[in-house]
Amino acid sequence: MADYDLVIAGGTVVTPSDMFAADVGIAGGRVAAVGLDLRGRRMVDAKGLLVMPGGVDSHCHIEQLQDGGGADEETFVTGSTAALAGGTTSVVTFSTQFKGHGILEPFAEYRRRAAAAMVDYAFHQIITDATDEVVFNEIPQVAAAGVRSLKAFLTYDPLHLDDRQFIRVLAAARRNRMLVTVHCENYEAINWRTAALLADGRTAPKYHAWSRPSMIEREATHRAIALAEMVDQPIQVFHVSCPEVAAEIARAKARGLKVWGETCPQYFVLSADHMDRPGFEGAKFMCSPAPRDAAASEGLWACIRDGVLDIVSSDHSGWSYDTPVGKRVNGVDAPFRDIPNGVPGLQARLPVMFHEAVTKGRMDASGFVRLTASNPARLFGLYPRKGTIAPGTDADIVLWDPTKTVTLTNALAQHVIDYTPYEGMQVTGWPVMTLRRGEVVMRDGKVQAEPGSGQYLARAPYDMIEPTGNVPNGFDASAFLI
Ligand code: URP
Ligand code: ZN
Ligand code: ZN
Repeated sequence: MADYDLVIAGGTVVTPSDMFAADVGIAGGRVAAVGLDLRGRRMVDAKGLLVMPGGVDSHCHIEQLQDGGGADEETFVTGSTAALAGGTTSVVTFSTQFKGHGILEPFAEYRRRAAAAMVDYAFHQIITDATDEVVFNEIPQVAAAGVRSLKAFLTYDPLHLDDRQFIRVLAAARRNRMLVTVHCENYEAINWRTAALLADGRTAPKYHAWSRPSMIEREATHRAIALAEMVDQPIQVFHVSCPEVAAEIARAKARGLKVWGETCPQYFVLSADHMDRPGFEGAKFMCSPAPRDAAASEGLWACIRDGVLDIVSSDHSGWSYDTPVGKRVNGVDAPFRDIPNGVPGLQARLPVMFHEAVTKGRMDASGFVRLTASNPARLFGLYPRKGTIAPGTDADIVLWDPTKTVTLTNALAQHVIDYTPYEGMQVTGWPVMTLRRGEVVMRDGKVQAEPGSGQYLARAPYDMIEPTGNVPNGFDASAFLI
């Protein structure tokens, strides 16, 4: 007799801590059992495959609203398709704020757009203007609506916050029990170097990397950590590009601070040299912080092994190359300063990282699951519903063929963006089936999911981001509405 709606049989189940031969029984969209000889009304043969939790991508820009109207090219439907094709079943995307405006209106519009998603989704709230109204009145409302993370940019016009504004965001997060994620680069230093480079006629994409060398990322990371320590507010440093920056996080962790670090596939397989391709081609690889060099990429592995960097997200931020609205929005001769930053990677994240991590023997599949699914779920308050395989969890599962070799091309990519920065890269290890809450939503690259079938993941406060209680002089300044 069949006990389950569906059984994934005969595979190797990979959890954040273990790998073992077992069947997975699914009922009502959840994992109901992990054991041997399970019988389901439907059986999926997973012989020779890894059975892993669906990926959790805790940093991706999808259909993000843009100043002046419109949104990113990648919609919730195309972004979901790319995510599911690549084995990712949950994402955390960004509701934004435009300077001079509040956060509630864009939040409502963003929720309306996200309702078309096929992946499950949660939001970070970007704060670009920490006014009294936003900090004291509106942030509590988005927290009550299930947003448990804020994003602060320490650079970029027109997004960046000065130190006082950043402190106000940290304090608001502490009062409302939210995590603060931070883009750490020094705004003034980048502007200064950019002005000099442009004055010298150095406008090509490769000078993007010259405008923001690693010490300006290190400085901003150090500052963000020090200010977060003063407020006693947990933070995650986004997109760490190199070990020199990760060392700031290591020191903070060693002192017992709640500071976590994220990096991305582009910092393992791209370098500043990619931006030195002929003509405008280098624009395809421009993101911030800038990819560094091979030594920096290799050094990041030690940071992961030592537990300094916890998460690999995609930072998917797609701008098409050949269309007038993407990388060329300011023309093909635009100086690097005026070329939109970001690379697409929602679909490629898991294959690129599996190849680099597991196929190349740097870690086992459990380590890969920790980096790409369970740690993001834990840090962003989605665990254990997401990010592992155990009775009671959502049946978000990817069946992975560790022996399948594929050459990445944009023809295989299911995002809306017209290029992939990983074109021509050969990877071994590939997702062959994705299940989202027990439903088969991708089989052999074909995504079948109804737009609107994704669920909003409202997040409640969670222990991991509780403040430590250690404030300078025992005086909690964040309690004052200043
Ligand atoms: O270049 C990048 N990373 N673009 C996306 C926005 C951000 O900074 O995260
Ligand atoms: Zn950023
Ligand atoms: Zn980003």
